[in-house]
Amino acid sequence: MAKTLHRLIVSVVVSALASIFFIAPAANADVSPMIVGGTRASTSTYPWVVYLATTSGSQFCGGTLTKANKVVTAAHCVKGRTPASTRVVHGRDDKQSTAGTVANVTKIWVHPSYTTATAGYDVAVLTLDRNISSATLPLATPSDTALYTAGNSALILGWGTTSSGGSASRYLLKANVPLTSDATCKTAYSQYSNTSMVCAGYPQGGTDTCQGDSGGPLVFGGKLIGDTSWGRGCAGAGYPGVYGRIAPYYSVITAQL
Ligand code: ARG
Repeated sequence: MAKTLHRLIVSVVVSALASIFFIAPAANADVSPMIVGGTRASTSTYPWVVYLATTSGSQFCGGTLTKANKVVTAAHCVKGRTPASTRVVHGRDDKQSTAGTVANVTKIWVHPSYTTATAGYDVAVLTLDRNISSATLPLATPSDTALYTAGNSALILGWGTTSSGGSASRYLLKANVPLTSDATCKTAYSQYSNTSMVCAGYPQGGTDTCQGDSGGPLVFGGKLIGDTSWGRGCAGAGYPGVYGRIAPYYSVITAQL
């Protein structure tokens, strides 16, 4: 009896110490390696995900191929950029490889009402100098209201940072995050508007898009329902990621495709 109790106390003390000194950093390393809290993904599985790069090849945002020569991204990614200074990289999981195709951009359309991401309208369409022969992702339409039901587990993808203020991922990363109700998102962010944005994230945080993922896809039901837009830090409890809501912009975007 005494021996059992002694063992129990020893094991409780040891595990308490371990959780302070060892488990905490290990758990951190586990939850932050990718997007934030994601895992590696291949562009062959998600052939419509692309990244935006400078002429020197430095990745700065994500995007989605919605026609062979058209990419939907965030307005804040490209506002003020010239087509000549922008490249679209398709089919390259590893930013340090030369896999896939690098397309030039011939035109940048930014939603005419866009000012800043937190005011909405954070969508843009890039025209490429070539047709990319790969699958494209359809846009959510105004009748796709069911795709936006809170709790739907949406897919996020990107090459952005793996923690708030951290360094960008070398590889394409993915994760799933539940869509947040309008009420929950409004509680987190006074700027939230359910006509131009949609939020996603776990109440406890831990999984999220982050800097450099902007413009990239939020996918549910086989459609593009959002584009990565903004948030307070990344993956924090009570602060979901905010995405541009695609369905309300279906007509204006389609007019550019
Ligand atoms: N604004 C960031 C970008 O330009 C995306 C931030 C997303 N933040 C978030 N907590 N989900 O890449």
